[in-house]
Amino acid sequence: MKLEDVFSKESLALIERTREFAKSFFEREGTHGFSHVERVFNLCMHIGREEGADLEVLALAALLHDIARPLEDAGKVEDHAAEGARISRQFLRSLGYPEEKVEAVAHAIEAHRFSKGPEPRTLEAKILSDADKLDAIGAIGIARVFMYSGEHGRDIETSLRHFEDKILKLKDLMYTETAKRIAEDRHRFTVEFIERIRREIEGEL
Ligand SMILES: [Fe+2]
Ligand SMILES: [Fe+2]
Repeated sequence: MKLEDVFSKESLALIERTREFAKSFFEREGTHGFSHVERVFNLCMHIGREEGADLEVLALAALLHDIARPLEDAGKVEDHAAEGARISRQFLRSLGYPEEKVEAVAHAIEAHRFSKGPEPRTLEAKILSDADKLDAIGAIGIARVFMYSGEHGRDIETSLRHFEDKILKLKDLMYTETAKRIAEDRHRFTVEFIERIRREIEGEL
């Protein structure tokens, strides 16, 4: 989908400005680098269109949702969702963005993490939560688990347990119908991968 077909010139300028601002928080790539943000953004635009969401609010929330993640990883803040919402409020207010929309973006950011923070109350918050989890399932999810393992010196067996403990449960945490469909498909592929790698590890030819 082309952003030009969906957004006005003003919206596009705001989105581009926000993208640059968000990008400046990420110094390195990795499992939670800016490429994750770009994928979540693309998923949000796809799901948001299907579900009839406010695409501008959703686009800004997607771009900003993990800006405080590098700070959390460095041990400087405790909760990147809460801190990301705080920084985003300041940023959007400084641009004169309408207050109710600032709050809509901030709520989605605050609620994107399922282990902490409030439950998503709005459609946009639900879609951001869905898109963030979808990026952990399927081929991309597999790539990210092993990338994370490489970053943390974890072996293959531990990585596989992480699929069983966490990744395989994500499909049941989707809020929107569109995300449920994508999740089912990515889930099937993940299960197939685990079965196959288990067989290879056990020496089956
Ligand atoms: Fe996050
Ligand atoms: Fe994320």
